[in-house]
Amino acid sequence: QHVLDFCRDVPKSEMHLHIEGTLEPELVFELAKRNGVATHLPTVEDMKRALDFKNLQQFLDLYYAACSCLLHEQDFFDMTWAYCVKASSQNVRHAEIFFDPQTHTERGVAFSVVITGISRALEQAKRELGMTSALIMCFLKHLSGDDSIRTLEESLPFKDHITAVGLDSTEIGNPPSKFKAVYDLARAEPYNYRCVSHCGEEGPRGDYTEETIIGDMWKTLELLKVERIDHGIQSLRSPELIKHLSEKRIPLTVCPFSNVRLRAVDKLEDHPLKKMMDSGLLVSINSDDPAYFGGYCGDNYLGVALALQLGLADMAELAANSWESSFLPAVAKGARI
Ligand code: ADE
Ligand code: ZN
Repeated sequence: QHVLDFCRDVPKSEMHLHIEGTLEPELVFELAKRNGVATHLPTVEDMKRALDFKNLQQFLDLYYAACSCLLHEQDFFDMTWAYCVKASSQNVRHAEIFFDPQTHTERGVAFSVVITGISRALEQAKRELGMTSALIMCFLKHLSGDDSIRTLEESLPFKDHITAVGLDSTEIGNPPSKFKAVYDLARAEPYNYRCVSHCGEEGPRGDYTEETIIGDMWKTLELLKVERIDHGIQSLRSPELIKHLSEKRIPLTVCPFSNVRLRAVDKLEDHPLKKMMDSGLLVSINSDDPAYFGGYCGDNYLGVALALQLGLADMAELAANSWESSFLPAVAKGARI
């Protein structure tokens, strides 16, 4: 079987996907029009031109601005359903999906509106597409620890819809210690959420040194007690970290197209994915924010297979890793691999 057919056909699990990052420019404009919201980029073409980012922050500014088109439950449903249809067409059979409630509650959209719209689409995806899912509630690193605790409390009536908590947004200047309290609360009764976090996404720049990055990765593991690290590509800078992550089989959810578009990696051919596999790390391929970075999960598989000249064995390992890295119970994982 040809490796490219395999990339398309192999059943995949996706663990690093921001549902707000699936808002295609066309849908942003459709929702903005429906809701009478002004977009700061006047046309779809302007928005597409804005996709040339120089770093994570520049992307985040556009991503949060686009979210202002989301007001009603139906908007969250339409966004989530569009993702499920697209992902399912690339044989993503299971997705553990991030959502950023603070991005919406800050604008006066109720927590219940956000989670009900998303959950309703995920239930329909299970019924009509046979696609299973889990929800991961992310706190925004650029907001305060107290704000994250208020958000955790708001999630209580919906806790049965939520599998885990995560952390995303601006990494520079927002160390894991800011969120130790909310993670301690989230892991315990009455929530019993599992824990993941973004970390080690961007390389050193100015005051944000290699030492800070590696230190933040250790603190993410030790203070926040995460089961999985989102991105984590900077771990290659530390042999001790590689050893720990490999021995404990802590999954790293890697997003190749994202790393190139946000300039953590110069070009796809330079992506450290294969190096990470060869170092014994449990890595998977994910799409992060596919509407912004040039492709969905299957497109990322195809892209790296071509750029890194990976063979069937490598791609099969990556697909198997995607199931091992998921929160599915061991029995269900075995059945899928
Ligand atoms: N929010 C959405 N995508 C993100 C990413 N790649 N890193 C940090 N925060 C994000
Ligand atoms: Zn992400």
